[in-house]
Amino acid sequence: MRAPPLSLLPLLVAAAFLSPSPSIATDKLDQTASIAGNQTLESAGGVFRLGFFVPPGSSDGRAYLGIWYATIPEQTVVWVANRLNPVVRPPGVLTLSADGRLVILDGRNATVWSSDDAAGSGGVATRATAQLLDNGDLVVSHGGESQSGSTARTSVAWESFDYPTDTLLPGMKLGVDGTSGISRNITSWRSAADPSPGAYTFKLVSGGLPEFFLFRGMSKTYASGPWNGAELTGVPNLKSRDFIVQVISNPDETYYTYYVSDPSVLSRFVLNGTTGQVQRFSWHLGGGWSSFWHFPLDPCDSYARCGAFGYCDVGQSPLCSCLPGFRPRSPQRWSVGDGSDGCVRTTNLSCGDGDGFWTVSRMKLPEATSATVHAGLTLDRCRQLCLGNCSCRAYAAADISGGINRGCVIWAVDLIDMRQYSEVVQDVYIRLAQSEVDALTAAANRRSHVVVVIAVMASISGVLLLGAFAFGCLCFWRNRAAPAGSRDNELPLQAIKLKRPRDDQRFSNENKMSGEEDDLDLRLFDLAVILAATDNFAADSKIGQGGFGPVYLGRLEDGQEVAVKRLSRKSAQGVEEFKNEVKLIAKLQHRNLVRLLGCCTDGDERMLVYEFMHNNSLDTFIFGDEEKRKLLRWKTRFEIIAGIARGLLYLHEDSRLRIIHRDMKASNVLLDKNMIP
Ligand SMILES: *[C@@H]1O[C@H](CO)[C@@H](O)[C@H](O)[C@H]1NC(C)=O
Ligand SMILES: *[C@@H]1O[C@H](CO)[C@@H](O)[C@H](O)[C@H]1NC(C)=O
Ligand SMILES: *[C@@H]1O[C@H](CO)[C@@H](O)[C@H](O)[C@H]1NC(C)=O
Ligand SMILES: *[C@@H]1O[C@H](CO)[C@@H](O)[C@H](O)[C@H]1NC(C)=O
Ligand SMILES: *[C@@H]1O[C@H](CO)[C@@H](O)[C@H](O)[C@H]1NC(C)=O
Ligand SMILES: *[C@@H]1O[C@H](CO)[C@@H](O)[C@H](O)[C@H]1NC(C)=O
Repeated sequence: MRAPPLSLLPLLVAAAFLSPSPSIATDKLDQTASIAGNQTLESAGGVFRLGFFVPPGSSDGRAYLGIWYATIPEQTVVWVANRLNPVVRPPGVLTLSADGRLVILDGRNATVWSSDDAAGSGGVATRATAQLLDNGDLVVSHGGESQSGSTARTSVAWESFDYPTDTLLPGMKLGVDGTSGISRNITSWRSAADPSPGAYTFKLVSGGLPEFFLFRGMSKTYASGPWNGAELTGVPNLKSRDFIVQVISNPDETYYTYYVSDPSVLSRFVLNGTTGQVQRFSWHLGGGWSSFWHFPLDPCDSYARCGAFGYCDVGQSPLCSCLPGFRPRSPQRWSVGDGSDGCVRTTNLSCGDGDGFWTVSRMKLPEATSATVHAGLTLDRCRQLCLGNCSCRAYAAADISGGINRGCVIWAVDLIDMRQYSEVVQDVYIRLAQSEVDALTAAANRRSHVVVVIAVMASISGVLLLGAFAFGCLCFWRNRAAPAGSRDNELPLQAIKLKRPRDDQRFSNENKMSGEEDDLDLRLFDLAVILAATDNFAADSKIGQGGFGPVYLGRLEDGQEVAVKRLSRKSAQGVEEFKNEVKLIAKLQHRNLVRLLGCCTDGDERMLVYEFMHNNSLDTFIFGDEEKRKLLRWKTRFEIIAGIARGLLYLHEDSRLRIIHRDMKASNVLLDKNMIP
């Protein structure tokens, strides 16, 4: 509200016409002023600019009124007013009409576009102003006297945030407002030269649980997964410290919005019409937009990829599997990788007492726009309700925020668009014939005595091989420790290896000897030692980031270099349990496996200390620069391949624990000084 007095505005406008700089030195426009041609408004903090622009590459000079970043040299337009009605006869002029609406006139004074009369003022609006805010919102306020002439309150009559084009800025909403009747979506540009609506739209589809869909024309191509109060179940890695996503759902409105914790960071969320993806960008100070993520990301993100009662897992081949208790509808097409037909029950429901439930927990929730939400129901009541209605296929808690189950959601439709994750998302209770449940339970119990389950998670480059095993062992340990009844959250279809009887024998023999094995050469490091070695986890001693936490290079007092993996706190567990697991890992010894030297626990910090591999990972050679690639002579390559094979053979066949490595790739192969993998 630091605008110049109104009487000065015309002067300023006049000055702007004369001055070489086309920008009007203000963020406001009133009914006596206008901006035309090259003139612009700039927000008070100089973040955004409003004016007419001609998209680069457009040949016919059509001009649009838009908002772009004032400080970024490559014009990045975040909002367009008249995307359907360009100004073809320049210059375009923006004014505020007598009834307080924004109006775009062309060179012949014809009205090209005008903003909705959202306030419904209908007639005259005195003292209307349009202001461009630093968050990128263009707000039209109607100030001054109401009919009775007494109040002088200003009210927002219209704002550009209510009419997004292809970009969501922090604070904008994507969703439905029941009270004002506004529905906000983002629609891609037709092309870089044409801001008119393109093929893709990203929007909320109302009904059931809130869920956002990407449409190409009329067909859904991607879904965010239902919102369960804590996360969008199809976007597991959305949480981050600097990018805070909220989905607000109440009887009045339902929407998605986001904030950036550091408001000086320019961030935008845009629907790209070329790639058909929603992308998140941030401006980095060196110049240039960096893309943080985009969706859809992988084949499993494509909508309903595996049909009804099927689920998708990028870690498996074929990608599609059927839910427990179901089999492919058309096995031939399934076997050639086309899962779109989905699955059918192996045993029909009895629709009465003869049915039960099987729990899956690592799933993107099935599409829930046609599901029914019962806000006040406990899960027990929900189960009864589901059993009592023959069309009920599954149920789950409707809201799990804070780890507490609230309400429930019931699916009386086919379960579609599910995919499996490596981490628990939420329990979904799938209705099956009781005989089917019994069979699955029996299978799970049998397995619990003899299997080693390894679910090595997709890891990011630089993960230490053994780090992944650490997690595998963790699963293994948990599974063994868990009482049989609580094991039902694990799908029977994941990669599982049975141990042969002689392995079991060997395993139990080992247990007998465990007294002797306890004195493994495993060091327990003090936190102080680790802190000294890594320079208090200095940023420049960080050498990698794995799925389980960052990895630091440290130098112990005796000069030995070590790699310290700092496990993310999510996986924090009891000290004894952790040590037991570390001992288990330490028993895996092979010259092609990175050696675990020791561990460190302090409070809920858990760290693993490995020998340091001087030559980093194989991918830095293969995909690195020309010089590094030359270092890989054929003999070296051959030896690396043979070493990897030996390491895998040891894990798969010869180690005491049966471990299946499911994420073999160049970035997971580390090389020591002598290029031994
Ligand atoms: C607007 O700017 C362009 C390029 O700077 C210039 O060619 C054009 O003459 C300007 N138009 C007006 C009306 O000032
Ligand atoms: C457009 O309207 C303005 C003000 O009403 C006037 O000065 C101008 O001559 C008009 N231009 C045309 C092309 O009619
Ligand atoms: C997106 O919203 C606009 C109004 O803001 C509406 O006209 C358009 O039909 C919507 N598009 C879709 C695909 O829902
Ligand atoms: C869309 O994506 C392409 C390829 O990543 C990129 O070149 C282009 O700038 C993007 N468009 C927008 C509007 O961000
Ligand atoms: C299961 O139900 C389907 C359709 O409802 C029916 O065609 C089929 O014969 C049933 N199977 C058995 C074994 O009852
Ligand atoms: C069963 O559930 C469906 C969907 O929620 C509902 O339309 C139907 O009325 C229910 N039937 C009974 C008997 O409650």
